[in-house]
Amino acid sequence: MVLQAIKYSRGKLEILDQLRLPHEEVFIDIQNVQDAWDAIHSMQVRGAPAIAIVAALSVAVCLSKCNKNGAFPMGLGPDMTGPGLILHNLNFLLTSRPTAVNLGDAVKKLEQVVYSAQIIAGATDYSINMAYIQAAEQMLVDDVQDNENIGRFGADWILRHSNLIPPVGKISVITHCNTGSLATAGYGTALGIIRSLHARKYLKRVYYTETRPYNQGSRLTGYELLHDQIPATLITDSMAGALLGLKRESENISCIIVGADRVVANGDTANKIGTYALASLAHIHNVKFIVAAPRTTIDLGTASGADITIEERPPTEVTTMKGRPVKRLQDGSLRVGGDVQEIAIAADLTGAWNPAFDVTCHALIDCIVTEVGVVEKGEDGEFHLDEIFRA
Ligand code: MRU
Repeated sequence: MVLQAIKYSRGKLEILDQLRLPHEEVFIDIQNVQDAWDAIHSMQVRGAPAIAIVAALSVAVCLSKCNKNGAFPMGLGPDMTGPGLILHNLNFLLTSRPTAVNLGDAVKKLEQVVYSAQIIAGATDYSINMAYIQAAEQMLVDDVQDNENIGRFGADWILRHSNLIPPVGKISVITHCNTGSLATAGYGTALGIIRSLHARKYLKRVYYTETRPYNQGSRLTGYELLHDQIPATLITDSMAGALLGLKRESENISCIIVGADRVVANGDTANKIGTYALASLAHIHNVKFIVAAPRTTIDLGTASGADITIEERPPTEVTTMKGRPVKRLQDGSLRVGGDVQEIAIAADLTGAWNPAFDVTCHALIDCIVTEVGVVEKGEDGEFHLDEIFRA
């Protein structure tokens, strides 16, 4: 069964609460824009494409409650209707998290839908609402399709650049954070490539990092890999160098594949904290470093990584951890049980620095895989990302 973290039908939006994974699978209702803002800000939903889609659909849910005049039934909504209501809500949602560009990209496109619907002869608040709802719903559909294309293009590229040793002909890869069905509308970007390699029987093993402090790797990627029964081994973030040093050849580790929150015009890439360290290791150990991202993650309006705003999150995400208690049985095995608890793991609970993302310089990136193809550097050693928007 395909893992589905965003459930949507017109008027109803539910998301799998990622704060409770992997211990509990609980869907929460997103009934309005404030619910969506809170879910994004608290990271009940996270991952650049998923954030944008949940935000866009939350406005659609809100609009689907409007009557034929474009107004809310008495007592159900704000004193605004039609375009004003939509633009106000989109701008509010933009403030939920700053680094991923997909939300800003979705807002721009949806604003354009509203402006275009407004100038159609005979436009009403209701017709504008409907145009918005259809465009937001299309984003959900397109994202899954885009991810499947990223998976296929990325797997093709990796296989062309890998040492497929007969008779097994399999490679191992390293990935970071969570870039799968939980971070997108479905299938995933970097994890989509890994899914594609596995489906084509070329994947020996994926090593996935814990991804401190929020543990998107151990909690979320681990959950997805188990769900899909993909051969996988968890490492802490600090083990990647040792893995490449000690097991690169025996495991045939071909590449490190990551997603992105914002790829700017020169190819510099903001992604989950720890990505830059992995890219540096890939460079030293001569393995390919691959960024997988839909074009909605590419921000041609920003020149270089130095201009990206990096979100800083509370120190308590570093100094505490959430989990369920484990019991050690007589045979030494562990059993998980009891309610989720938050525990202290640092001497000082307040004094940590917690940037959620870092920036990897384009010099360390071998290619950027998008839904329209793989972008490599030109003869000048630079990425020319504007070209994929002409496709
Ligand atoms: O803080 P998060 O969990 O939202 O960060 C997510 C990442 O950094 C992902 O790698 C990125 O959004 C790509 S998801 C397809």
